[in-house]
Amino acid sequence: MTDLALAVRGVSVQFGGVHVLDSVDLSVRSGEIRGLIGPNGAGKTTLLNVVSGIHAPGRGDILLDGTSIRGHKPSEIARRGLGRTFQTSRLFRGMTVLENMMTGLHRRTDSNIFSAGFRSRRAMAEEREAEHAARKSLDFVGMAQFADRRGTELSFGQQRVVEIARTLISEPKVVLLDEPAVGLSMNRLAEFDLLLRRIRDEKGVTLILIEHVIRLVMEVCDKVTVLSSGRVIADGDPNQVRNDPQVIEAYLGKELRARYSAS
Ligand SMILES: Nc1ncnc2c1ncn2[C@@H]1O[C@H](COP(=O)(O)OP(=O)(O)O)[C@@H](O)[C@H]1O
Ligand SMILES: [Mg+2]
Repeated sequence: MTDLALAVRGVSVQFGGVHVLDSVDLSVRSGEIRGLIGPNGAGKTTLLNVVSGIHAPGRGDILLDGTSIRGHKPSEIARRGLGRTFQTSRLFRGMTVLENMMTGLHRRTDSNIFSAGFRSRRAMAEEREAEHAARKSLDFVGMAQFADRRGTELSFGQQRVVEIARTLISEPKVVLLDEPAVGLSMNRLAEFDLLLRRIRDEKGVTLILIEHVIRLVMEVCDKVTVLSSGRVIADGDPNQVRNDPQVIEAYLGKELRARYSAS
């Protein structure tokens, strides 16, 4: 047995001969909230894509709850308990919030294989259960009153919260969040801290979040991993990482180069 919810071991990924991830290691304990930070283009999203099965790693292994998921399809990895959200919103804007929530579940159940016009009792019972689970999850994130609104009627921040609620329906063990706080106002950010902690404490979910809002990372994350140019350059307590000279250099170097090329 292992108390590691997720372990990434020596993972490398190349795109067109360029190392986007280079021997990345990451060990996340069960019940942890892990921050993943680093300059743009560092490979953060690629790492989530490898863990969720969108890209296969060129080298290395990935263990979810102690079992290798390397080379498995995204749907299989999801079934084993991994949920995720994406950097850009993936809500269907023409559908209601509830319908959006249920698209997450339909992929998991087999209801969609029932032919049109024939809905067995089992399919209908499944659908009712799915709706119940969807409403419960919306309630959990404080969005129950938005169930019948269309995606287009929600603010950007509200859409992100619905997407998180959607990942929770299937009761995942680990959830990966790719810049979930983008578009949240300062007021909402405080609530967002609380939401992440409740997901961990009440749902028992291990969270890994890519985040640019450093205050959020420092407040809510137990540990922080810093990627720069595809390599892990620091890994540890938030305060320790923040004061790490290599981390400061990675951010500052990037900023100075950007300023230099802009002038
Ligand atoms: N599918 C892809 N094909 C080719 N290059 C990619 C692909 N996805 C990402 N990259 C490149 O990999 C690097 C890391 O990207 P990404 O993981 O999105 O970084 P981050 O999320 O840290 O900003 C970037 O240089 C990006 O252009
Ligand atoms: Mg990214």
